[in-house]
Amino acid sequence: MTKINADLHGKVALVTGASSGLGAHFATVLAKAGAKVFIGARRIEALAALAQDINDAGGRAEAISLDVTNPASIESISDAVSQVDILVNNAGITRESAMLDMSEDDWDAVVDTNAKGVFLMTQAVARAMKARGTGGSIINIGSILGIRQGGMVSTYAASKAAALQLTKVSALELARYGIRVNAIAPGYFKTEMNAEFFESSAGQAMVKRISMRRLGNLDDLDGPLLLLASDSSQYMTGSVIEVDGGHLLSTL
Ligand SMILES: NC(=O)c1ccc[n+]([C@@H]2O[C@H](COP(=O)([O-])OP(=O)(O)OC[C@H]3O[C@@H](n4cnc5c(N)ncnc54)[C@H](OP(=O)(O)O)[C@@H]3O)[C@@H](O)[C@H]2O)c1
Repeated sequence: MTKINADLHGKVALVTGASSGLGAHFATVLAKAGAKVFIGARRIEALAALAQDINDAGGRAEAISLDVTNPASIESISDAVSQVDILVNNAGITRESAMLDMSEDDWDAVVDTNAKGVFLMTQAVARAMKARGTGGSIINIGSILGIRQGGMVSTYAASKAAALQLTKVSALELARYGIRVNAIAPGYFKTEMNAEFFESSAGQAMVKRISMRRLGNLDDLDGPLLLLASDSSQYMTGSVIEVDGGHLLSTL
């Protein structure tokens, strides 16, 4: 029987979008499991504070300035990229508006971050993993909006569908190098991205449509994250794990 093991000592992880929300949590969880964690985003002060917290708690974290939409920024962290065993493509943004009113700038910003950013980071890290010959695990943070639809989020939903499809194509192409690519599709978790919405009556009404009648807590993501990051998922690639309290089950 294969031992279930989420010990990540000796592994190096890189979490994008780690300056807040899910990404900051993922970095903390991976560090607690023993990984050295590079934490990347644009707000370097927030990253420095998180790195301090992780290091003070006995983990190992290093803040790196990163814009996932910018190839030159990714090139500037090539030293970190060359060491990565576990990549968490978490950086993401949203812009809400009716599709008829969505501006081209908003479309580009969201698609560049949520889809092109995943592509650029996956390509850079997978090239390095292939050159090292060590394999690795890439975890893309999708969304249930990449699977089902909602109003006002045309660009976000399209970008997340792209990220989930990219997960599967990358998995197909990279399996031969021992690189596994999987995704987590979270339901709704209260973070900077959506805090205002969940304080509104529309947000409260949405919570009632979640089968479990509650938003996710960040630690609801820990099991799926550690499963995909570790060899416990050694025969999984191209999988999408939905972590949504049963939200996708809501009746049509
Ligand atoms: N919260 C939810 O309910 C939920 C549900 C499903 C999926 N998700 C996904 O989970 C991920 C994290 O979202 P969150 O809720 O934690 O939101 P958040 O708190 O707003 O965090 C988003 C993170 O992405 C970073 N980021 C944005 N653009 C970036 C860029 N160009 N380069 C590098 N980093 C960038 C931000 O950092 P800087 O601004 O410092 O760069 C921030 O750290 C996103 O992919 C989101 O779509 C969230």
